[in-house]
Amino acid sequence: MRFDGRTAIVTGGNGSIGSAVARSLAAEGCAIGLIDLQPSSEVVADIERLGAQAVVFPADVANAKALSAAVRGAAQALGGLDIIVNAAGITSFGSAAALDETEWDRVLAINLKGVFLACQAAIAPLRARGGGRIVNIGSVLAKNGGNARPWIDPAEQNASANVAYGVSKAGVHALTSYLARELAPFGITVNCVSPGPIASPMTTAFPKSLASLIPLGRLGRPAEVAAAVKFLASDEAAFITGEVLDINGGSWSD
Ligand SMILES: NC(=O)c1ccc[n+]([C@@H]2O[C@H](COP(=O)([O-])OP(=O)(O)OC[C@H]3O[C@@H](n4cnc5c(N)ncnc54)[C@H](O)[C@@H]3O)[C@@H](O)[C@H]2O)c1
Repeated sequence: MRFDGRTAIVTGGNGSIGSAVARSLAAEGCAIGLIDLQPSSEVVADIERLGAQAVVFPADVANAKALSAAVRGAAQALGGLDIIVNAAGITSFGSAAALDETEWDRVLAINLKGVFLACQAAIAPLRARGGGRIVNIGSVLAKNGGNARPWIDPAEQNASANVAYGVSKAGVHALTSYLARELAPFGITVNCVSPGPIASPMTTAFPKSLASLIPLGRLGRPAEVAAAVKFLASDEAAFITGEVLDINGGSWSD
């Protein structure tokens, strides 16, 4: 199995994408440390059913002390760290005209600062292994200015505007390239997958017309994001770093 003897921390490991990543790595022999707000016995049971080890370290990714203790604790419990996947995140709605400061701060603290803090805490254990993989989850909303098309349907602006979310994810894309250069000398690759809308609780409130913006005609699946994460976490991706990989059914490319 490709990930036998390897270990991975997955933040947001209880969520749709995080749990798909955890299952997909565990299915190939990887031991998993789950970091999320609450422990999830269901994801743990799935990982163990796949024959892999699971450890759980609940933490709020916006809380620096709690998060670095959780990353350190998980790395130690797993006997070292090879991979960290940052999938914890929240969605948020609001146009630039209407968004209040508290919501801006909340979204940036979880979606951007949380990724920075998790990567920072992972550097020492990854270096101790002589190298490793960081894979962040960005978003097409970091690139496309949002899904809303208010010139076609003004009501869409209110339903789909998510300026804080898009900017937080743009920060994750930039952080990925910055860390890729800083950590290359240590054999740590840093990449990002940038999904379009994925069928999950995060997108149930999105306008039904969303699928019509996607050339492939449907929302993505958590397992499709997990497959890309697994590739970037694998030995085969050893010469890829600083990349932001679009997984969006053709709705945006650059
Ligand atoms: N679903 C989509 O369409 C989509 C598209 C692009 C990017 N993404 C990104 O993918 C990632 C996973 O999204 P998902 O669809 O699985 O969402 P999800 O809501 O199913 O999972 C998110 C997980 O993050 C956890 N989380 C939230 N705040 C946290 C905090 N402060 N500390 C620790 N954990 C926290 C939640 O408990 C949850 O388990 C997110 O970063 C999201 O922004 C999702």
